[in-house]
Amino acid sequence: MASPPHTSKTLKLERYNSYLRRLHSTKVLNASSKLIFRVTLLIALVLILFFTLNYPPLSDKNPNHAHLHHHNFLSAALFTSSAGGDAWEKQVRHSSTPKKPNGLSVLVTGAAGFVGSHCSIALKKRGDGVLGLDNFNSYYDPSLKRARQKLLLKNQVFIVEGDLNDASLLTKLFDVVPFTHILHLAAQAGVRYAMQNPQSYVSSNIAGFVNLLEVAKTANPQPAIVWASSSSVYGLNTQVPFSELDRTDQPASLYAATKKAGEEIAHTYNHIYGLSLTGLRFFTVYGPWGRPDMAYFFFTKDILQGKPIDVYQTQDKKQVARDFTYIDDVVKGCLGALDTAEKSTGSGGKKKGPAQLRVYNLGNTSPVPVGKLVSILEGLLRTKARKHVIKMPRNGDVPYTHANVTLAYRDFGYKPTTDLATGLRKFVKWYVDYYGIQTRVKKDSDINSEHPEESV
Ligand SMILES: NC(=O)c1ccc[n+]([C@@H]2O[C@H](COP(=O)([O-])OP(=O)(O)OC[C@H]3O[C@@H](n4cnc5c(N)ncnc54)[C@H](O)[C@@H]3O)[C@@H](O)[C@H]2O)c1
Repeated sequence: MASPPHTSKTLKLERYNSYLRRLHSTKVLNASSKLIFRVTLLIALVLILFFTLNYPPLSDKNPNHAHLHHHNFLSAALFTSSAGGDAWEKQVRHSSTPKKPNGLSVLVTGAAGFVGSHCSIALKKRGDGVLGLDNFNSYYDPSLKRARQKLLLKNQVFIVEGDLNDASLLTKLFDVVPFTHILHLAAQAGVRYAMQNPQSYVSSNIAGFVNLLEVAKTANPQPAIVWASSSSVYGLNTQVPFSELDRTDQPASLYAATKKAGEEIAHTYNHIYGLSLTGLRFFTVYGPWGRPDMAYFFFTKDILQGKPIDVYQTQDKKQVARDFTYIDDVVKGCLGALDTAEKSTGSGGKKKGPAQLRVYNLGNTSPVPVGKLVSILEGLLRTKARKHVIKMPRNGDVPYTHANVTLAYRDFGYKPTTDLATGLRKFVKWYVDYYGIQTRVKKDSDINSEHPEESV
């Protein structure tokens, strides 16, 4: 008789093995579900943390507030990392405190810029308190801005590194110092660059200006504000010389449009909040420590390097001309405008009475064709330029500028005194010193204007 396939002993053994297998697979299942649970919990925590940091509280329904919270979070991280602390506040106070009785306490925006650095030193030298603000952007070589910053530090002017759009930083500055005046020169300058980077003009010249005015209107006391508009607001105006009464509603570039917008915005803040506002329309400012994106500057560079230069002609083959204005004349105009600015009338963000609202041309009153500029440079550099005469492209430039400065003369004695040849000689002297260029220019004893630091 055949024996049964399983004895009871083998049967028990098999049952026991199958029990062990089930037990093992349950354990594996339990372990992996625990792992999945923990990973999910971790991801959820990370997400909660991320959204808490990056988004405003759900209770805040106002979209503008939401934007502000978001902006402040970013700006706090991006712009104010170096601001704050006792040592910083001490530096800010020290720089802004006037050294003479009844001196001004001026916040100069764009202080590391061309006009800003000159004005800051001039104010400091006559005993006013000056604090600079600049974001040191790289529109042109930032090392030139850093060199100006060093020069300002030597003259006891401290520049806070920050952006006009950083409301919390600006508020903090006004918490620390009761500025009597703002000289607002920070802007995205340059006519042609507006076609490459239009947003930078909107951000600095419109949004940044509004941000500054918002802080100024709530400051106690409200400061008086003198700010840089531009001759470019005259745009396609053909009436010459340009007078403040001429039309300015035909800008030829986005840059000009943002400056014109600034003038209208100034009107609003004067009207509603009683801020004292003076706009200065500068005409092609040039001189030592100037801007590398401007023709007189890059012509000098290119002529010295033997490179060809583009000299523009108008569409009807006339010479393009500019009312070149020397930096020292512009500085005198800025200081004159500050000295005659009346106090703002508002307090606690409310207007208490009518306040001063002014606009002035600051030019040289004698336009010079660009061809003449080139021949003066050729003489100073003792080098023939490789001129490439072309029709002016439609890139926002205007063919001609000429200032009528009667108003500025009447109100604060503005009278430009430097002709183009004299001013360019000082510029070239600075240029070769600054860039350490060993040329015929350097050896030429004809060019012996004052030391560059003194001319700032
Ligand atoms: N130089 C001229 O011929 C001329 C002519 C007409 C008008 N302007 C106006 O005069 C003012 C000064 O011009 P400039 O020639 O000294 O130019 P600049 O570029 O040398 O100086 C402007 C400074 O502002 C800073 N800046 C720009 N945006 C900023 C921001 N958002 N926050 C903080 N800082 C910022 C820049 O870093 C720069 O240092 C500008 O408003 C310009 O539009 C100049």
